Amino acid sequence: MSMQAKPAVVRYPEADSTNSLALELGRQGASHGTVVVAARQTGGRGRAGRCFVSPPGGLYMSVILRPDLALAYLRLVTLAAGVACCTVLEKYGIAPLLKWPNDLYCGRRKLGGILTETAPYSTAQAGVPFVVVGIGLNVNSLPADFPPPLPNLVTSLSEITHRRHDLDMLRREIVLQLDSLVAGLEQSAETVFSLWRQRDFLLGKNISWQEADGPVVHGTGAGLRQDGCYRLRTPDGFIHPILAGVLKVHRENQVKPGRP
Ligand code: BTN
Repeated sequence: MSMQAKPAVVRYPEADSTNSLALELGRQGASHGTVVVAARQTGGRGRAGRCFVSPPGGLYMSVILRPDLALAYLRLVTLAAGVACCTVLEKYGIAPLLKWPNDLYCGRRKLGGILTETAPYSTAQAGVPFVVVGIGLNVNSLPADFPPPLPNLVTSLSEITHRRHDLDMLRREIVLQLDSLVAGLEQSAETVFSLWRQRDFLLGKNISWQEADGPVVHGTGAGLRQDGCYRLRTPDGFIHPILAGVLKVHRENQVKPGRP
């Protein structure tokens, strides 16, 4: 499905979570491509129940999509959203990488994240399944705008490029790119996989993985599997397919201060 030339944009100066608002709009039948955007969020949500701190200056938006995709493929929409953000941001002179499944990193610092949520098929009022792609990017905010310990962990487009950016233009470019990549997923996932693999933050790094209260598994990042899972290779060569849980990068991968 392709969106209207000018998709509907619902703006808020402040929202609890644009994803929550978009889920509600989707239930009410909002069309493919509708975007909810807020200048700041008071209850921004991230993956695994985490909060996403959303001070003014960031881009906080949720896009309602009604793709013609099997449920198993909806997972790939998150990967497509990451690729859409990276390819647009690259035009601004930066080179973000993707930490599976949903984080954008520049160097060792988080630039943004993606939270994709779906509504149950059978209860969607419009009779069409929909997915909400929530995108949060640190654009004109600066690390000092975040509470501790985040100033040491986040970066922003402005911090890297030393200038401010037009949030509306950035939003429009990302939505267009997202629409085009998701439409492509309806034919094949190859383009998204290939673009995602070129931007794999974890590939070859020492990482650990933990799911719920399970054991911590150590290994190296071994890339995306054909179904969108991430792979961790343990020292004995065993490959763990990762579908959920938390992936962490080990400290020995950290770039030491002063090192180029
Ligand atoms: C993560 O870092 O785990 C994902 C963060 C996703 C944040 C975006 S901001 C817009 C949308 N609204 C939310 O509440 N979350 C997403």
